[in-house]
Order: sequence, then structure tokens, then C-alpha cells
Amino acid sequence: QPKAFLFDLDGVIVDTAHFHYQAWRRLANEKLGFDISEEFNESLKGVSRTESLERILAHGNVTLDAATKDAYATLKNDWYTELIHKMVPDDILPGVSEFLEKTRLAGIKIGLGSVSKNAIPILERIGILNAFDTIIDGTKITKGKPDPEVFLKGAEALGVVPEECVVFEDAVAGIEAAHRAGMKTVGIGLPSILTKADVVLANLNNLQIAELQNSLFSE
Ligand code: G6P
Ligand code: MG
Repeated sequence: QPKAFLFDLDGVIVDTAHFHYQAWRRLANEKLGFDISEEFNESLKGVSRTESLERILAHGNVTLDAATKDAYATLKNDWYTELIHKMVPDDILPGVSEFLEKTRLAGIKIGLGSVSKNAIPILERIGILNAFDTIIDGTKITKGKPDPEVFLKGAEALGVVPEECVVFEDAVAGIEAAHRAGMKTVGIGLPSILTKADVVLANLNNLQIAELQNSLFSE
């Protein structure tokens, strides 16, 4: 039986995965001289800011010195911050608030496991900061996904073992991180992309905990 649910933020609770893509795409277009596709963007999901820039540069065969990389990562974050500033509680993805409520009522602990350094301001903006028993974000970890650190720290903070955790993730790197941590996974998105997830759903709308328990913990 699950004792804790660990939620990724970008692309699971809010549609900020799209804002990350928009901001990186703008940087590629305006500063690097190439475009990045939505398909390539899948490989950036769940990956830290600096590692994302490295992957984009490698993708476009561009080499930059450390100072310029720093400046570009900051510029991307400035553009991203502008986008998240407009967010309101209505931007919480369908079914998320209801599912968090059901989770709480079922006595299952709730954690956030995100590589983002913007997690807390986003949760504040959308008004659900208090829904979490623990928040592990980009300021508390040294290794991004697919390293399991973020989820292992979440389990530890909640006082549960990995086998009792279920991770909700929209990123390929995030599903890998959860499995490396020894946890069950619910992919949020497309089965064709999240091929390694134990279960894949389009979103959390109308999700029943009993139903999920059956499909993840029955055998
Ligand atoms: C999440 C997102 C990534 C993002 C990373 C760092 O994992 O899925 O797209 O690059 O956080 O976010 P930050 O807000 O710190 O730049
Ligand atoms: Mg995500």
C-alpha cells in the first residue's frame, strides 16, 4: 500500500513545462540561431537549468564560454519568470486540487519532487503551497533527474521507504529517476513517450486512489 505520493511540478501540477519550452525556444531563436522542436523539448523535461542549456548547445553544435552560458541561463530564467508571474490558481491542471484532497483524506502523505528553483514561488502563486507535507526543489538537491536524489530526499523527509511511494511525472527523466529510487510511477502524458511508466494517464482528472492502488500494488 502506498504511504506517500510524490508529485513533480512542471507539467503535472501546472502547465509550466510549456513555459520552460517557450523560454528555451526564445533563447535558441534569438541568441543561438536555431530552433528547437517540441520533440527535442521532451529530452529537457525534468532536467536542471544548466544541464538543459548544455543539451541545447550540443543539439545546435554551439560552443560558449562559461560566462556567456551563465548569462544565457539567467536570461532564459528572466523570460520564464515573466511567464510564471501571470499565473493564478485557475492555472492548476484539471483534477489536481481534487486529487490532492482525496490523497490527504486517505491518509497518504504528499511531497513535491521538482528540480526547479522556481517551485515555491509557483506554488504560492497558484495557492497550494500548504497542500504539501514536504517540498524538495532545485535548491535542496545537487543532482537533477534522472538521478533519484530528489525523490529519495522526499521519501526521507516524509519518513517512508521508497517502495511505499508513488511518483507522478510528465518527464522521461523523471520516470527514470523514480524507478532508480525504487518507486512506482504514474506517467502524466502520452504512453508513446512515457514508455517506462507503470501507468500512464492524460491528467489527474477523476483519478480514484483505490483504482490506482489496484493497478500499481495488486500483484
Ligand atoms: C523542472 C523542469 C525543467 C527545468 C527544471 C529547472 O525539472 O521540468 O524543464 O529546466 O525544472 O527549473 P528552473 O525553474 O530551476 O530553471
Ligand atoms: Mg515535469
